[in-house]
Amino acid sequence: MEESRIQQAKARLGIIGNAPALTKAVGRALRVAPIDLSVLVTGESGAGKEFFPAIIHQYSPRKHAKYIAVNCGAIPEGTIDSELFGHEKGAFTGAVTSRKGYFEEANGGTIFLDEVAELPLTTQARLLRVLETGEYLKVGSSEVQKTDIRVVAATNVDMARAVAEGRFREDLFYRLATVSITVPPLRERGNDILLLARKFASDFSEKNRTPQISFSDGARDRMLAYRWPGNVRQLKNVVEQMALFEAGSEISTETLAGYLPEASASLVPVLHRGRNLPVATGRGESDHTYEREREMLFSLIFKMRKEIEQLREDVDALRAKEGKLRDSIVDTPLTTSIVKIHPPIIDAPPEILDTTAEELPGETAALSEKEAIRLSLERNSGRRKAAAQELNISERTLYRKIKEYGLE
Ligand SMILES: Nc1ncnc2c1ncn2[C@@H]1O[C@H](COP(=O)(O)OP(=O)(O)O)[C@@H](O)[C@H]1O
Ligand SMILES: [Mg+2]
Repeated sequence: MEESRIQQAKARLGIIGNAPALTKAVGRALRVAPIDLSVLVTGESGAGKEFFPAIIHQYSPRKHAKYIAVNCGAIPEGTIDSELFGHEKGAFTGAVTSRKGYFEEANGGTIFLDEVAELPLTTQARLLRVLETGEYLKVGSSEVQKTDIRVVAATNVDMARAVAEGRFREDLFYRLATVSITVPPLRERGNDILLLARKFASDFSEKNRTPQISFSDGARDRMLAYRWPGNVRQLKNVVEQMALFEAGSEISTETLAGYLPEASASLVPVLHRGRNLPVATGRGESDHTYEREREMLFSLIFKMRKEIEQLREDVDALRAKEGKLRDSIVDTPLTTSIVKIHPPIIDAPPEILDTTAEELPGETAALSEKEAIRLSLERNSGRRKAAAQELNISERTLYRKIKEYGLE
């Protein structure tokens, strides 16, 4: 692949950087683009995987047809088959009309399956069939449908391990990864880090009409040496925060350090300590302790909301059953009464329970949940899996919440 074509593709998509491993990845995408093979893009979260299916589509004969990106981790397990493959009217409760799936909608084009390792095994079986035969069944239908679609998938998961642990079908893995493209982590891209930082800083100040920031030699060295666990996404986030709060100034090493999560690494253990509030041991720690208490509370509220959501689901299920029996649904505020019957599991002020028990969550609870998620993502440098574990929710739920609260 000639260098000039690669540079042109980078410019067209807004991909910044000249690291050989990145250039090689773009070159591979361009080379495979015109050939109808499945491609698997791997790389850490935030590394820039999403550019690659876009390159592949735009440089393929399918470029005038549809391109659909699906985040497999963000769709609830119960509806994913129907979203991808569509359903017939009456296929399940609530399916009042039939629905086109993405495989029908993007017919002739490209579908990007992001976070593909999150697909449930049943969906994996359906996907394998489409890839092998171009055929699939809508949910609730036995009529074979045909589609002509190119699949590009991406993951930040170690697929070999997912296969070994039985979470991902081996046959599907090989089928998807006919060609694989690896996006290098930011820490291995040398000077690209500085190119990206400068670009993000100037984009920010142009867009928001704020005075430019610049970087001291020390800050530049620190950026080059830092691990960037959240990769380009994290760098962008850090630079934009500095562009806002340090507008017009030269960023020193110390200033930069304040924006890198390692500075607050001491906050990490608190959530693993269960429900005991940390004890302040000295004056110097009191700020930290306050921070910790705040975090603890957010996490508690979050857990309680989860429990209540579960209860609500159970109640809804019960109601639906009952409704069928009596052929009518009596609209009693069951949710609230159930919450009151159950003794609070944790000693928390009753108003917290009340807020979270409302049918529409109160502003406070939603804010706190958002805050808890934001803090946890920050602590885990954007690694959603780790944040989900810490918050004790599924990754899928976390994705949904991130979308809901616009925390992307
Ligand atoms: N080389 C790059 N040049 C410019 N922006 C980039 C680059 N790589 C990543 N980004 C930006 O970083 C963010 C994260 O990239 P994304 O493709 O969503 O990561 P991933 O899908 O690998 O988690 C996006 O805002 C993207 O535009
Ligand atoms: Mg992504």
